[in-house]
Amino acid sequence: MDSTQVIIFDTTLRDGEQSPGASMNLEEKVRIALVLEEMGVDVIEAGFPIASNGDFEAVEAVARAVKGSTICGLARATKGDIERCAEAIKPATSGRIHTFLSTSPLHMKYKLQMEPDAVLAKVAESVAYARKFTDDVEWSAEDGSRTEHDFLCRCVEAAIAAGARTINIPDTVGYAVPDEYGALIAMLFDRVPNIDKAIISVHCHNDLGLAVANSLAAVARGARQVECTINGLGERAGNAAMEEIVMALRTRADHLPYRTGIKTEAITRASRLVSTITGFVVQPNKAIVGKNAFAHESGIHQDGVLKHAQTYEIMTPESVGLNRSHLVMGKHSGRAAFKAKLKDLGYELGDNAVEDAFTRFKDLADRKKDVFDEDIVALVDDAAVRGNDRIRLVSLGVMCGTRHVPPSAELELEIDGEVKAVHAIGDGPVDATFNAIKALFPHDAHLQLYQVSAVTQGTDAQAEVTVRLEENGKTVNGQGAETDTLVASARAYVNALNKLLVKRQKTAPAALTA
Ligand code: KIV
Ligand code: ZN
Repeated sequence: MDSTQVIIFDTTLRDGEQSPGASMNLEEKVRIALVLEEMGVDVIEAGFPIASNGDFEAVEAVARAVKGSTICGLARATKGDIERCAEAIKPATSGRIHTFLSTSPLHMKYKLQMEPDAVLAKVAESVAYARKFTDDVEWSAEDGSRTEHDFLCRCVEAAIAAGARTINIPDTVGYAVPDEYGALIAMLFDRVPNIDKAIISVHCHNDLGLAVANSLAAVARGARQVECTINGLGERAGNAAMEEIVMALRTRADHLPYRTGIKTEAITRASRLVSTITGFVVQPNKAIVGKNAFAHESGIHQDGVLKHAQTYEIMTPESVGLNRSHLVMGKHSGRAAFKAKLKDLGYELGDNAVEDAFTRFKDLADRKKDVFDEDIVALVDDAAVRGNDRIRLVSLGVMCGTRHVPPSAELELEIDGEVKAVHAIGDGPVDATFNAIKALFPHDAHLQLYQVSAVTQGTDAQAEVTVRLEENGKTVNGQGAETDTLVASARAYVNALNKLLVKRQKTAPAALTA
């Protein structure tokens, strides 16, 4: 490997999914993993196989589907965890076991209740055990940035001696500052005798907003793997954002002479997909992928950009896959042009999916004057979430406004092939619609999130709705996109219910009825 190459280790599907509410089902994880593979991500951490059967199956499914990236599973320092992880990554062309143990005084005393010597012994033991299943073993010193240097050096040396090829030093609680964290990495290179036998990796959380800065400081001091997530998704304030790391390295290669294998043009698509699936909206002013990241509002800036883009743009929107809001096509556009557009947007769909998307595009073009790239993306993503749904929206009529009090909804749903209808009232049109769904399909799930955003500008924009439902501690996110906000809301709610049914079926096959 060339000495300037930085390995990109994406943990959106593992640490990212640990964000409360950011649950993803198996199909969604595979979809995200395939986009990550296409982007050129080196290592995809697909989950924590011992955590649940769902996690195990998802890691296994990703390992089966992805062939161009290494597939990694997380395991604590126990035989049971490591065995389960080894089993899950078995179908991978290239599989990695990532095992971890806390090393800071605070974690050893209160969390592990173990003496340092016992921790040290367990590090060597767990790594050696993982090596029985694969040559590619990563070891992490959890809370590494708050670990005493002498002890950290001893643990790292022991892990490498036991066969770890990658050593990860997490800033688990996002406490480090860049100089300090970079110096920690440099200290390991100075003091650990067998350090040249492993790649040093960093994994930074964003509690102080320093995750990306800390990661880059570590790269400058010798780290050659960065663990990160799309949109910075992750526990608490999140992990280092992959798009920021990659674009900082690309844009400031003069100062940071390191490279990644990421095809940056896929960044916008990956960001959008993760946001749609998790319901975690990207803040408008978020670096690289926020809606305003390339917008120029003030007249002076607009004038400058028109004269010479680099006056106010340090990266081109195209370099992150953002085509300047192209007008796609009108209702007279043909199938061939539509197919070419899908390809342009990064979609490789089968014939049936193209046909379905084309029908929906025609339908949308009938209702909406201008159809933009963003509309096509929303439309295709919306179709992809529907799969083999048991509940389908047939029709919805809503009466609301000052003349129709109380607001009411007339709804038809197809449930397991049978069409049922109901009329319901509510505190507003959305409430009436959701009450109608509940009347046709009674359930106890709680609505945790109802969120609407506009895909493009203008009053005829498609509304993209996320509905998050919670049942027995498990959450699901449903999505819907339509020019009619209420129809989009109903579709999102129905989508969430369908996901809940799949979840129930996996945990308790007998509980299938509503
Ligand atoms: O933040 C952390 O320490 C982790 C480890 C499990 C790598 O996520
Ligand atoms: Zn973490």
